[in-house]
Amino acid sequence: MSDRATAVAHPNIALVKYWGKRDDELIIPRTDSLSMTLDIFPTVTTVTRDPAARADTVVLNGAAAPDDMARRVSRFLDLVRGLAGGGGHAYVDTRNTVPTGAGLASSASGMAALAVAAARAYGLDLDERALSRLARRGSGSASRSIFGRFAVWHAGDGSDAGSYAEPVPGVTLDPALVVAMVDTGVKAVSSREAMRRTVATSPLYDAWVQSSAADLAEMQVALARGDLAAVGEIAERNALGMHATMLAARPAVRYISAGSLALLDRVAQLRQDGTPAYATMDAGPNVKVLCDPADAEGVAGVLRAAAPGIRVAIAHCGPGARLVNEDAS
Ligand code: PMV
Repeated sequence: MSDRATAVAHPNIALVKYWGKRDDELIIPRTDSLSMTLDIFPTVTTVTRDPAARADTVVLNGAAAPDDMARRVSRFLDLVRGLAGGGGHAYVDTRNTVPTGAGLASSASGMAALAVAAARAYGLDLDERALSRLARRGSGSASRSIFGRFAVWHAGDGSDAGSYAEPVPGVTLDPALVVAMVDTGVKAVSSREAMRRTVATSPLYDAWVQSSAADLAEMQVALARGDLAAVGEIAERNALGMHATMLAARPAVRYISAGSLALLDRVAQLRQDGTPAYATMDAGPNVKVLCDPADAEGVAGVLRAAAPGIRVAIAHCGPGARLVNEDAS
């Protein structure tokens, strides 16, 4: 058995969002969610078991990882060690090409890559569903990055076994997602804390749970039909609804900034001018715009002109998490 494995995973952006946990410890969501895995901003993670080490070591982009991240990785490895019946500490080297902690899904790619690499390094033989459940324990959205293209994550029956992601079959739609990085600083409130606060205090939360179920059903029909306009409309209203529940939390969780609003205005204007483009936002001020690949460069140009100096990247559907460069030692 090799004690070292490297995996690559890409971020995913939810078109029907996950916002709120039913079980904080197991990371079981209140609602199903559906996402598109991207082909940009991969995370590459190598896990090397070192039974002689007295603690795990976590390196992010060549430097010691911040304490909170190192603790999170170590807690995740405890889960893997529990499943493997031991195996000792590990050296984890992770390279992220996306700004960490800025609402750009770095936790999804990061935890998916870690799950795949750690499972192999500790000798676990897990199928994709089991890997999805394992990645979920690191970060909920990571359950979806195990799969490429479009994935749906089931809330299930509240049990660990019942909550996993799987591919959405039969989707031929190949949209572009233009990512506008309004602000890449680390967010003030973590998604974990923001979710907890929203579920506990937002008077809009129950309505969100109900409308989200309807959005998911309609999204699946729209995807099966290959109807970009319907997919985009559902994604945009779902994202704005999620942000509305947060704004109603006490105290409010406000990720939408003035910069985000300016871009949301531009996206609405694009539509009025005849370009099908639809916005979505996650736990941060960045705006992602779903559009036809043929329009992506034009949309990116409009967003750059609206907010000079910001970074804008164009993504398409990307692959699921996978092992790379396995050492056979
Ligand atoms: O998995 P987390 O804890 O990073 O939460 C992600 C939540 C959103 O990105 C806002 C929505 C989603 O479904 O990815």
